[in-house]
Amino acid sequence: MAPMTEARGSGAAEPDSRPAQNRNTLTVTDNRTGKTYELPIEHGAIKSMDLRQIKTAEDDFGLMGYDPAFMNTASCKSKITFIDGDKGILNYRGYPIDQLAEKATHLEVAYLLFNGELPKRAQLETFANEVKMHTFVHENMKKFQEGFRYDANPMAVFISSVAALSTFYQDAHEISKPDIRRLHMIRLLAKVPTIAAWAYRHALGLPHVYPDNELSFTGNFLAMISKMSELKYKPNPAIERAFDVLFILHADHEQNCSANAMRAVGSSQVDPYSALAAASAALYGPLHGGANAEVLYMLQEIGSKSKIPDFVKRVKAKEAKLMGFGHRVYKNYDPRARIIKKLADDVFEVVGKNPLLDIALELERIALEDEYFVSRKLYPNVDFYSGLIYQALRFPVDFFPVLFAIGRTAGWLAQWEEMLMDQEQKIARPRQLYLGYERRDYVPLERR
Ligand code: CMC
Repeated sequence: MAPMTEARGSGAAEPDSRPAQNRNTLTVTDNRTGKTYELPIEHGAIKSMDLRQIKTAEDDFGLMGYDPAFMNTASCKSKITFIDGDKGILNYRGYPIDQLAEKATHLEVAYLLFNGELPKRAQLETFANEVKMHTFVHENMKKFQEGFRYDANPMAVFISSVAALSTFYQDAHEISKPDIRRLHMIRLLAKVPTIAAWAYRHALGLPHVYPDNELSFTGNFLAMISKMSELKYKPNPAIERAFDVLFILHADHEQNCSANAMRAVGSSQVDPYSALAAASAALYGPLHGGANAEVLYMLQEIGSKSKIPDFVKRVKAKEAKLMGFGHRVYKNYDPRARIIKKLADDVFEVVGKNPLLDIALELERIALEDEYFVSRKLYPNVDFYSGLIYQALRFPVDFFPVLFAIGRTAGWLAQWEEMLMDQEQKIARPRQLYLGYERRDYVPLERR
């Protein structure tokens, strides 16, 4: 090994006299200069900032990492959600997702994500009451949503309405004050289902339904969706539980595209309504939360089991994508998909089977046996089945991402607060590798 001519990293205060093989460090030799550097390894990572000392000359900017799409860059330290993609593990605050989905309520999970611990009974009651206190939204929100055309995509209406919520709270930007910050977190958790339900009613041209605070978090949402002329809406317990589980399964997923948007936008210290609108916009895309709608469009396009082999051929020729398959992190199976598949059976027992289910099951069977999907470790993700459930419940397809957003709101807020509390965080501002022109003089229009 080359002699150490440099041995510094941002975390290494004193030179370490132990033999190199006993040290938790990475030795890097810069072949441009022949210099060797020792960088501390913490939690299985080096700090990218430690690379900056690696220079070819005093005025050199220093080495950077290049990582488009953050394929191998940890942007934060977090204690919220753990995923082991190879083993198919998903834990919130250490609790396995299957235990939470089986035993907890969504509000319990939201409390857990916000506070780090499961609530005791009295804490849960207080939390649930606080949320209930904030389910109503300003009457102007109704007028605001009425401004959208009848065929406006409900997710676009949802995103805009969440952003518009900030206009009702003049202290929304006072995020450094713990009480105010928490109040807005509760407000968002409570009002998102109302805004979502109203976006739904607007899309269907139905009158808005006000929250019913005698119902559970999920029962109230279903009432705002479904209530017509009856004086009191009584949710079907099986459907109410199914939705609670769906919200739990979608509640957080560590540093996914929308959580990253929530953190990045929130890092400018904007109010949480604006940050959550940005996170919702990130969720809207077909590669993220919009995938549940794309799965339905895909199954409808396939149309019958006999056409599956042709479709799979097109996917392998890269002419189409098998929506609801594949994941950046899960390379074994998505534990949420397993739970949701079982949940689909429970829902179909109440409302009848979705006719697209047979196509989905056959597509899954064929894909899981096909070398193309096996070698790329492509398995069904949470969105492969959630859309079938939503459709069986007669939700319009373009409303599916809104349902995802209701569950994910708890996670976005927990991620946002953790980011604000983290002393190591600053405004998110990546670097770039500039490959454009160096400098050139402006050419007047007539000479171009
Ligand atoms: N259908 C067909 N081929 C696929 C798919 C798919 N759904 N997903 C990945 N591949 C192929 C891809 O073409 C590539 O092949 P090759 O090696 O020949 O170039 C290989 O698998 C690796 O894929 P990748 O694009 O490098 O993987 P990624 O980590 O960048 O993308 C993904 C992850 C989820 C965006 C992608 O799998 C995908 O587009 N899936 C469909 C959309 C979807 O279901 N999204 C929901 C994700 S779960 C809910 C959530 O958390 O948002």
